[in-house]
Amino acid sequence: MTEIRTPRLLLRSWHDADLVPMADINMDPQVMRWIDDGSVRGLDGTAEDIERWEEEWDEEGFGLFAVELLASGELIGFTGLSVPEFLPEVMPAVAISWRIGSPFWGQGYASEAAHATLEFALQDRGLDRVISINRAGDDASENVIRKLGMVTERATNHPVYGYPLHVHAIDLTEYRA
Ligand SMILES: CC(C)(COP(=O)(O)OP(=O)(O)OC[C@H]1O[C@@H](n2cnc3c(N)ncnc32)[C@H](O)[C@@H]1OP(=O)(O)O)[C@@H](O)C(=O)NCCC(=O)NCCS
Repeated sequence: MTEIRTPRLLLRSWHDADLVPMADINMDPQVMRWIDDGSVRGLDGTAEDIERWEEEWDEEGFGLFAVELLASGELIGFTGLSVPEFLPEVMPAVAISWRIGSPFWGQGYASEAAHATLEFALQDRGLDRVISINRAGDDASENVIRKLGMVTERATNHPVYGYPLHVHAIDLTEYRA
């Protein structure tokens, strides 16, 4: 799979050593607040997640990148692409998403990784459209979405949890990083 370097980050494949730091991120209630039912995930759940994310790379040719801080080599979370099968009404689609450990918020890392991911979607994968789905109230994600130039397309509800969702999209043929 492709590795991407940005000024401060390395977007790369998953390593065995990522399990513990990714589980630390998944065990932080602040991080998980707007995701699924808001519950945290421990080591076993995170190991299952990483396995699923790796399978998506094999099956789709895209997926979630492990995001490493170049300066320190630390894993700070993920950013990448996935097929949002949980929301049939938007399919077919490819969605961008992110999860960054709370000690690393507020430094522009999510936006830097997300810009690089859209560039990858367009240049490497030839995708012309990417969507983003977030829970209403997740203002930090909506801030990243705005900065990417995504446009809000619809409001709906999570098919399993029932809470309101916002769906945004970007036409990558118009995209300028
Ligand atoms: C959503 C999430 C990734 C956003 O992270 P974030 O750090 O707030 O987002 P950004 O990378 O855009 O950084 C934001 C701030 O960093 C600051 N910043 C500092 N240095 C910067 C730099 N070099 N470049 C850009 N911004 C910088 C800016 O003030 C920016 O805020 P602004 O856009 O209001 O000016 C993070 O809150 C998260 O992981 N949440 C939990 C997971 C989650 O909810 N995922 C979404 C599920 S759909």
